[in-house]
Amino acid sequence: MLTLALAKGRMQEEALRLLARAGVHVSAEALGSRRLAVEDEAGRVRFVFVKPADVPVYVEHGIADCGVVGRDVLLESGADLLQPLDLRISRCRIAVAAPRRPSDGPETEAGLLHVATKYPRIAAAHFGARGVPVEIIELSGSVELAPVLGLSDCIVDLVETGRTLEENGLAVVETITESSGRLVVNRASYHLKAAEVGALLGALKAAVEQGEGGAS
Ligand code: PRP
Repeated sequence: MLTLALAKGRMQEEALRLLARAGVHVSAEALGSRRLAVEDEAGRVRFVFVKPADVPVYVEHGIADCGVVGRDVLLESGADLLQPLDLRISRCRIAVAAPRRPSDGPETEAGLLHVATKYPRIAAAHFGARGVPVEIIELSGSVELAPVLGLSDCIVDLVETGRTLEENGLAVVETITESSGRLVVNRASYHLKAAEVGALLGALKAAVEQGEGGAS
């Protein structure tokens, strides 16, 4: 049996729909329960539902053979995993955003840019590559509040519909990179469970292709 770590939250529903199209069904009873580890109806896949940032941890350590998680989380984690498939779900971008009012430009007088983010590694790499001196202020959510309340000059965060930025008076300054849900696989499992991993990968690939143009 394969163990698959699934990121709870924004991606979970879309991932389960895609898996169902790939022939991996989880019963409504299991999904409606508070159990954090459940099996699919055919007994081929055991799902563990974990926080997005923990998916790479479980997969890298081999506790889960594979996982479904956003590219944003993978870039931030730096975990050594195989990423054989873009699932094309939960598409969004990682962007620098700042207050819309022109007088509130992100550059501070001292030339040090204060950047609030849930993605310290991505933010540091982005500004580091441009030679922009920054102070990274790490937050764990509601990042858009930081510039509004004067904690930072700008943010690095996920933008999906853009509504959260819009409704908090912020606008995208620059897109850093695109993100979407990815299938990740533990390096050892890829070889030791080649048949099972291959079957899941093939079925998911077909489901992704079939779903293109439909729900994304
Ligand atoms: C994410 C992200 C933005 C928002 C973007 O937050 O950090 O805040 O969604 O979505 P939008 O462009 O469609 O408005 P999430 O909902 O994961 O919650 P968080 O702020 O607690 O991290």
